[in-house]
Amino acid sequence: MDLPKFSLDAEILSQEQMAENVYRMTVHCPQIAGVAQPGTFVQMRLLGGDVLLRRPLGIAEAEREKGTLSFLYRVLGKGTAAFSRLRPGAQVNLLGPLGHGFCMDLHRPLLVGGGMGLSPLLFYARCMEKRADVLMGGRHAGEMFWTELFKPYVSKSYLATDDGSLGSKGFAVSLLPKLLEKGEYDAVIACGPEIMMERAAEMAKAAGIPCQVSLEKRMACGLGACLSCSVDASDGTRKKVCKDGPVFWAEEVFP
Ligand code: FES
Repeated sequence: MDLPKFSLDAEILSQEQMAENVYRMTVHCPQIAGVAQPGTFVQMRLLGGDVLLRRPLGIAEAEREKGTLSFLYRVLGKGTAAFSRLRPGAQVNLLGPLGHGFCMDLHRPLLVGGGMGLSPLLFYARCMEKRADVLMGGRHAGEMFWTELFKPYVSKSYLATDDGSLGSKGFAVSLLPKLLEKGEYDAVIACGPEIMMERAAEMAKAAGIPCQVSLEKRMACGLGACLSCSVDASDGTRKKVCKDGPVFWAEEVFP
């Protein structure tokens, strides 16, 4: 089902630096906060700015009562650098919520996230009210501010860092077979680097449970009109990540 969409100016309530080049921006936007689902995203642009500076940002938190949305994003170029310079009181334009989110009809999902892929999983964990566990991966301890963010919303957290400075050393996904061994989970919900999601999907399949993945592609319109985000699907068709996704069942997009 397609969610109602809004194009609105929203006031920035806070902007904090979480790690090197990583920021959390919270805006007041009750219309989008009221209907957003975990896994959906917005297209954000500067007011009066070039529309080419519109950037897709996954929704990291939506607080319906307060009418707020939060985004956790890494500065990767001109657009996100401009967002990071905005201060409370400034406004941005939001188009959203866009795309289809994660399956919410699960009892005990395991969330698997790498780097900024943990952002939409935070919103998901919050909605699951402690029924989910999370397996988090990052480059080093300095980037694992996620552990504190997830703590109130998950039952258990598992951690891995590339350099071993926090949690296990290596890729988070290498811990997955052991976690799935007990048969405790009814699905894997993955978001992060594509190779991580492919491996998570293979492991979920081997464990006999479904897996959803959230794809990230360069986007322009965000509305299914320009085809710039198309990917090859397993059934031979082309899927638009912005409209048909960004969340897919793994078998739809991975061979
Ligand atoms: Fe235009 Fe997806 S971004 S079709």
